[in-house]
Amino acid sequence: MTATPPEPVGDSASRPAVAPETATVLAGRERNGAALAPTIVTSSTFVTPSVAEGRRLATSTTSDSFYGRYGNPTVNDFADAIAVLEGAEAARAFSSGMGAITAVVLGLCSSGDHIVTQRQLYGGTQLLFQGACPRLGIDVTFVDGTDPDEWAAAVRPGKTMLLFAETPANPRLDLVDLEALGAIAGPMKVVDSTFATPLGQRPLDFGIDLSLHSATKGIGGHNDVSLGVVAGSRELLDWIWGFAVLQGANASPYDAAGGLRGLRTLGVRLRHQSASASQLAAALEADPRVAEVRYPGLASHPQHDLARRQMRLSGGQLTFDLVGGVGAGERFVESTRICRLAPSLGGPETLVTHPASSTHVGLLPDELAAAGIGPGTIRMSVGLEDPDDVLADVRAALDAIDADGSSRADAHG
Ligand SMILES: Cc1ncc(COP(=O)(O)O)c(C=O)c1O
Repeated sequence: MTATPPEPVGDSASRPAVAPETATVLAGRERNGAALAPTIVTSSTFVTPSVAEGRRLATSTTSDSFYGRYGNPTVNDFADAIAVLEGAEAARAFSSGMGAITAVVLGLCSSGDHIVTQRQLYGGTQLLFQGACPRLGIDVTFVDGTDPDEWAAAVRPGKTMLLFAETPANPRLDLVDLEALGAIAGPMKVVDSTFATPLGQRPLDFGIDLSLHSATKGIGGHNDVSLGVVAGSRELLDWIWGFAVLQGANASPYDAAGGLRGLRTLGVRLRHQSASASQLAAALEADPRVAEVRYPGLASHPQHDLARRQMRLSGGQLTFDLVGGVGAGERFVESTRICRLAPSLGGPETLVTHPASSTHVGLLPDELAAAGIGPGTIRMSVGLEDPDDVLADVRAALDAIDADGSSRADAHG
């Protein structure tokens, strides 16, 4: 996988293709002059030089100096950097991952349209498909995302507007076969690639039309921005822009600068997190108090071969189920000391979440079961600490559960 650095890094004809890690350092500098670090353009409005130019800017999907909701130099630099990394013609940044997702879904679909998505999804996205879409007359079919045949069989020719996938999926790290999805003719194919980051996989290389991220996560990388981004063809991004300027979920320039700052170190962070997560996943798999470990880099992951085909790095996210069940899961996330109980991922701090009571709390019991989320399911976002310290912390928390007997009580309850 190679990417081409953006202007003004030399003359385009002689520009060499560079590795993605190099592109994270070079990209998104077009509007930044000589400053190395991102310049935050705070203005929410810009002086228009003439009526004619104002008319042009008010209708231009690429304008960055007309009105903040339409575009902003810092925000557009961030979006352009993601376009380079995704191998896309264009990208647009949003105020959150959900801002990006709603812009894609509501910008491209109308009443009477049909969407196919998977049962394994981030809880917020699932609620959008279960609640807002049907309310607006958009019919949604949920399939098992791991089965390419289910995706293809659910398509209604002439009706299905979008296939919306998430891979790796939150929280059980189920994968969608990008090549098989990309080969389905007719609907537009959208992939939420948040867990992988642009360095972990590039959906557009597999025939996917739009790749999107909650850049609040690994791209921002420091738990200090709220940001989303969508990358794809100029034509599709122009359609989305038409809705997005009315939706008003535009990214803040402060957060976009944080996103650019995060991108510069994404390569080293993701490599460290992938290596640490591999080590922790292997250690947890050998622990009898853990029933199952899900990590794409583990040979035991049911789609390990697929992970090797479509992912460059396995990432920092892993999920495991405690033998103890109900009380054990909640007790575990309250017992760790280095791993913090917080609902996000991709940052420097190792975070643990209990999906059944947090990210997926809005789901009904049968929906939780369908998504493979049990009371003892723990999602872990591995940070930048020494993995030996994290493992010691996890083992101490498991010891604490053993000592207070909650796992034994649950086993009988
Ligand atoms: C896979 C995935 N997509 C989208 C989102 C939503 O992102 P945000 O919180 O930035 O709106 C999340 C949040 O956890 C997520 O995990």
